[in-house]
Amino acid sequence: MTLILNGVAASTAIKEQLKQALSQSREKPHLVVVLVGQDPASEVYVKNKQKACHEVGFMSSVKRYESSITQDQLFNELDKLNQDNDVHGIIVQLPLPSHINANAIIDHISPHKDVDGFHPINVGNLHRGQNSFVSATPLGILRLLEFYSIDVVSKHVVVVGRSNIVGKPIAALLLNANATVTITHSKTKNLMHHTQQADILIVAAGIKHMINKDYVKKGVVIVDVGIHRNDDGTLSGDVHPSAYELASAYSPVPKGVGPMTIAGLLLNTYQAFQERG
Ligand code: GUN
Repeated sequence: MTLILNGVAASTAIKEQLKQALSQSREKPHLVVVLVGQDPASEVYVKNKQKACHEVGFMSSVKRYESSITQDQLFNELDKLNQDNDVHGIIVQLPLPSHINANAIIDHISPHKDVDGFHPINVGNLHRGQNSFVSATPLGILRLLEFYSIDVVSKHVVVVGRSNIVGKPIAALLLNANATVTITHSKTKNLMHHTQQADILIVAAGIKHMINKDYVKKGVVIVDVGIHRNDDGTLSGDVHPSAYELASAYSPVPKGVGPMTIAGLLLNTYQAFQERG
């Protein structure tokens, strides 16, 4: 029988744990989202983040700025948030307008409040196997595997995709957890040869239905990070459903990794709150 890795069930359990952990606390974690301009996709993401904060009893605020804001003005706004003891987590929603250097902005967020895990100090600490904020999607994937008691120790994990947000950090996280990790990407020769070796296949390629049954071995655990909106309004992932037939477990799209990304952000915000100075 094939196990479905249900991200709604796993994220609900995490939210319940967070609610429980906060039930005796007078102070609440406070997440601030910085939103520049009016990107429609960002509006949706930010609304979902706020809704999730509300569900678990976190405080959340959105700081909105015109797309004409300068980089220096944004630095000043971040300075204020960095210094504000009532703010525990900060995320600057990406993408930013093209006149602003996103990396410079990320570098300006206090690493202690960087609940996206994008600051070089957090990235470096992750790679050294030290305590750090880990990008929300990789953290959510690890928690999804844990929720379903899927052991990663000594497993061969193949990651398709090498982004800074998913591919690279999930590889580091799983290496730290004693998996054997192969990272593949768009320039990998004979991709199929690698993906067929995977005990656990994590697909974050950004190409709809790229991985089909020919790419996987029987019994594989598939984690699909892709999300693509179809013309009829439904959603598809990077993995073609034909691959599910061979899998021992897979995360569906929707209701797989998506809810776990939000759970990862909540976990990071709670961590920032606990570790506040
Ligand atoms: N834009 C799309 N995904 C993300 C994310 O995880 N964090 C931020 N800050 N912006 C995003």
